Amino acid sequence: MTRTEPPGRDQLDPIEIASRDEIAALQLERLKWSLRHTYDNVAHYRARCDENGVTPDDLAHLEDLTKFPFTHKDDLRANYPFDWFAVPMERVVRVHASSGTTGKPTVVGYTQNDVDMWAGLMARSIRASGGRRHDKVQVVYGYGLFTGGLGAHYGAERLGCTVIPMSGGQTQKQVQMIQDFKPDIIMVTPSYMLVILDEMARQGIDPRDTSLRIGIFGAEPWTQKMREELEARAGIDAIDIYGLSEVIGPGVANECIETKDGLHLWEDHFYPEIIDPVTNEVLPDGQMGELVLTSLTKEAMPIIRYRTRDLTTLMPGTARAMRRIAKITGRSDDMLIIRGVNVFPSQIEELMLKDDRLGPHYQLELRRGGRLDHLTVLGELREGPDDEDRKVAIARDLEHVIKSYIGISTRVRIGSPGKVERSLGKAKRVIDLRPAE
Ligand code: DLL
Repeated sequence: MTRTEPPGRDQLDPIEIASRDEIAALQLERLKWSLRHTYDNVAHYRARCDENGVTPDDLAHLEDLTKFPFTHKDDLRANYPFDWFAVPMERVVRVHASSGTTGKPTVVGYTQNDVDMWAGLMARSIRASGGRRHDKVQVVYGYGLFTGGLGAHYGAERLGCTVIPMSGGQTQKQVQMIQDFKPDIIMVTPSYMLVILDEMARQGIDPRDTSLRIGIFGAEPWTQKMREELEARAGIDAIDIYGLSEVIGPGVANECIETKDGLHLWEDHFYPEIIDPVTNEVLPDGQMGELVLTSLTKEAMPIIRYRTRDLTTLMPGTARAMRRIAKITGRSDDMLIIRGVNVFPSQIEELMLKDDRLGPHYQLELRRGGRLDHLTVLGELREGPDDEDRKVAIARDLEHVIKSYIGISTRVRIGSPGKVERSLGKAKRVIDLRPAE
């Protein structure tokens, strides 16, 4: 049961409840424009098309998109900072950048129309999450080059909400604002929401007594178990929001509060494909693979067949006409291979959260021992008693569960509550301590 009535059909954008044929027709018209716009104005992509012997005239049907080359993050990096822009710089009203951990960030640009389109999709996403006009929204995603803060901010304003632009960090102040300003909605990474909930507990505040009704969580993978944890502890509906800077920022796909069954991808502005990341073959709906996205309306930085590295599947629409993506369990770059077994951090999260004695915070350390990789799972007790024997016993239990469900041997170390390092934004789940190759 949700705490909030879902929006009525009359409040939705007509395209959200259009027929599949109407959506496909709009996509085809927009895709033709987007391909032509990119080909004519982004020299790097035109060169790639020329190498592959295709021009925008080769697209007659949506399926013809498979003839066109992919765009990789490295293509964008090679055009650092502004060479991927498809409009003159004087039309670019904003830039953002994605925080690459290595090398240069990827820069993205927006025209005024792009900013408006993005705000519209974020308003739609907040509405799908159960948000309404006049709701107060505490935005805890970081403001700045990261797209989270400003993306959420403009969307909430567009929906007619009151924005509390907190940005990330200052955990005590976050709690104070929740107490004093009484927001209905919080937009934050799920891992930082846990930190805020811990701070409330420290101050003796029951989060279920606050004004918060809805949490819109994204920017990092989080599991169904984590949803249960957040909903039970905070007394909210926990809704998943997905996006990436290269494509627009948050608001590419969002769950609907009435179903919470995967994220509706806003197909009127983005065309999704799922491919086999190794063979590059396009997979039918329902099969798991890498999400590839094409922008249909973006002006400043159009992107064709962008390899997101995010692994998911495409499913038919339910609460909306647009197709859904399954909750993203991980990125192909986050996949650990431990003695030949593929493991995502989210699989460990799922198992840890099944044990009531363990808190939801965790990190994974990867080390090299001889020629093999070794994984250490760092977790912490949810609450006392805080004695060594108990910690060791719980650690042994988790090692056993991981071995039987995932099939890998790990070393688990359980600390006292608060032991695992906290994040103020995206959680860093994996610490790679292997020597550089
Ligand atoms: O994280 C944009 C965003 C901000 C999304 C706020 C949602 C909320 P980047 O920093 O470019 O942009 O990181 C994008 O984060 O490719 C995924 O791997 C991951 N990611 C984003 N949302 C989710 C989610 C923002 N809901 C990368 N579930 C993406 C799982 C997510 N992973």
